[in-house]
Amino acid sequence: MPLVPGAGPGTGTPVRPGSDLDSEEAPSGDEAGAGPAPGESASPPPVGEPAPAGSQVKQRPDWLRVRHAAIIMDGNGRWAQQQDLPRLEGHRRGARSVREVVQAARELGLPALTLYAFSEQNWERPLDEVQGLMQLLHDYVIEERAEILDNGIRLRAIGNILRLPDFVKRPLQQLIADSAHGTAMTLTLALSYGGRESILEAVRAVAEKVRTGVLRPEQIDEAALTECFQTSELPPVDLIIRTSGELRTSNFLLWESTHAEFYTTPALWPEFTRAELLTALRSVSASRAAGPGSVPGADSGEPGDNGE
Ligand code: FPP
Repeated sequence: MPLVPGAGPGTGTPVRPGSDLDSEEAPSGDEAGAGPAPGESASPPPVGEPAPAGSQVKQRPDWLRVRHAAIIMDGNGRWAQQQDLPRLEGHRRGARSVREVVQAARELGLPALTLYAFSEQNWERPLDEVQGLMQLLHDYVIEERAEILDNGIRLRAIGNILRLPDFVKRPLQQLIADSAHGTAMTLTLALSYGGRESILEAVRAVAEKVRTGVLRPEQIDEAALTECFQTSELPPVDLIIRTSGELRTSNFLLWESTHAEFYTTPALWPEFTRAELLTALRSVSASRAAGPGSVPGADSGEPGDNGE
């Protein structure tokens, strides 16, 4: 994904590789019928669609031109180092930010939020850090269960969930199943996740469809492949937020974020608040409202313009 520096209001910086302003044309997969993620029910409600009349679901407000925001939560270690605290304390404070941001996103009416909580590469960290992160994930699933169920949040997980230890996997899968019919917001945790790995998994699934005669090779198009991703029920990602000022995509949602805006803020993840989320959503919504070309170097969406 090309990263094009652009200027924007607030402390953060929107970076705009794509231009599909509130575009509905991309194969969203909202209604796609791919297999459910582990622990999920078979027919979840569409994400990002207007709430039915009489529903308690908060409508996405007019100003909010983002249906699916995804966050690379970076800087826990640096935050801890700055405070002269152990790294794990940084992750603990990071978990606090997760709670605040999830609540804020739901209250704002954001239809889908995806959090990069543990990458495939994170398994290579020291054992005590990995164990500490697993404990935090366990605690999150247990302690936020009521918040998630009471507020109609649908919890999902993407990644190699089977690699998680049982004490995390069991309550996680239980909550995924129990929250499957939530319609207020879909919260997706990327766990043991890698973007390239997920592309390989989707390609394998398509190959299997060809092998079993479900699909002919000439029928493989973007929509057919999109259906094979664990994210197929979600709208395309239209905003990626990364904390701690970094501009790398770090193997996150590579297929799904083709037309996403990239927003970075110098705040470290433990410092990221509800106000920061609002700034990011407002800033990117405003640039989307202004249309292609409102940010220097932005992809006009015209053929031949790849935004680089
Ligand atoms: C990056 O910080 C963050 C992570 C590797 C994990 C994110 C985990 C949490 C926010 C806490 C637990 C999650 C949930 C959902 C409860 P880093 O360690 O790479 O920071 P650094 O780059 O400053 O070293």
